[in-house]
Amino acid sequence: MKKILVLGGRGMLGGQLKGVFGNGAIAWDREECDVLDYRNLARKIKGLGGSLSAVINCAAYNNVDGAETDRQTAFKLNAEFVGELAAICKENGISLVHFSSNYVFDGRLGEYSESDRPNPESVYAQSKFQGEQELQKNGGNFYLVRTAVLFGPKGESPKAKPSFVDLMLDLSKKADTIKAVSDEINSITYARDLAAAVKTLLEEKYPYGIYHLVNSGCASWYELAGEIFRIAGKTANLVPIHSSEYPRPARRPQKSVLLNTKFPPLRPWREALREYMQRN
Ligand SMILES: NC(=O)c1ccc[n+]([C@@H]2O[C@H](COP(=O)([O-])OP(=O)(O)OC[C@H]3O[C@@H](n4cnc5c(N)ncnc54)[C@H](OP(=O)(O)O)[C@@H]3O)[C@@H](O)[C@H]2O)c1
Repeated sequence: MKKILVLGGRGMLGGQLKGVFGNGAIAWDREECDVLDYRNLARKIKGLGGSLSAVINCAAYNNVDGAETDRQTAFKLNAEFVGELAAICKENGISLVHFSSNYVFDGRLGEYSESDRPNPESVYAQSKFQGEQELQKNGGNFYLVRTAVLFGPKGESPKAKPSFVDLMLDLSKKADTIKAVSDEINSITYARDLAAAVKTLLEEKYPYGIYHLVNSGCASWYELAGEIFRIAGKTANLVPIHSSEYPRPARRPQKSVLLNTKFPPLRPWREALREYMQRN
């Protein structure tokens, strides 16, 4: 049976993909192959011969604020590399799954379907959108999956950062009052549910193209934090704040909810959050 290759296998989503594909997956991260060494990457993928059915790319530059001052790294990994990978996959007749972000939208419309036009505002968002364009320009058979606000077990990479869920739980042990932004609204996604949906996309041979894969519903950071504390039974003093009271280098969309119109809806985010918190 053919295998899938996960790039960025020690990240949050990569870890969940390894879990859902089990023995059907080969996973590489920085140690096995620096994806920015395109010649080596092409050679290694070619070396797997006809044994691969798909590459799933989770390698990305995800520091939204860091990208404002590290533009070159963000564009190299989120855009240039994606074009190179798309060309390598096309040349070898392998399908490619790549992930983009709800931040490619400016947030003025609030809810976005797969065919809505991105208008990225931060450097991170611009780099992710350019990656989408490189994929579409160079790609053969690809799934471009936009997702948003991932939570799940921290990746195995030494540089992996905890998700908002674990950050809030940690903060609740240290602080009496926790402030959370109440006027930025996003879709929310359990990495495990996303990984399972990607497996279905590939196994059931959904048509190639753009997909919005997120748990159903949406929330502000304040609502998300409130639900985390409710499930955890914590009595943290949670205070809603306006985004202007929490200035960050990168501009975020005010409301960027991804509408999934092409794939069976994923369960509501509250249900997924409860399962994650009970498992961990
Ligand atoms: N996390 C979110 O909330 C979110 C939201 C929307 C979209 N997405 C998208 O979803 C996808 C998966 O995100 P994620 O949160 O799982 O990412 P992640 O945890 O940051 O994992 C990315 C992995 O890629 C590795 N990597 C980075 N540069 C590499 C290189 N040059 N060569 C080989 N490996 C390299 C990283 O290693 P190091 O740790 O050593 O750098 C890390 O293990 C990404 O495309 C991301 O943009 C994520």
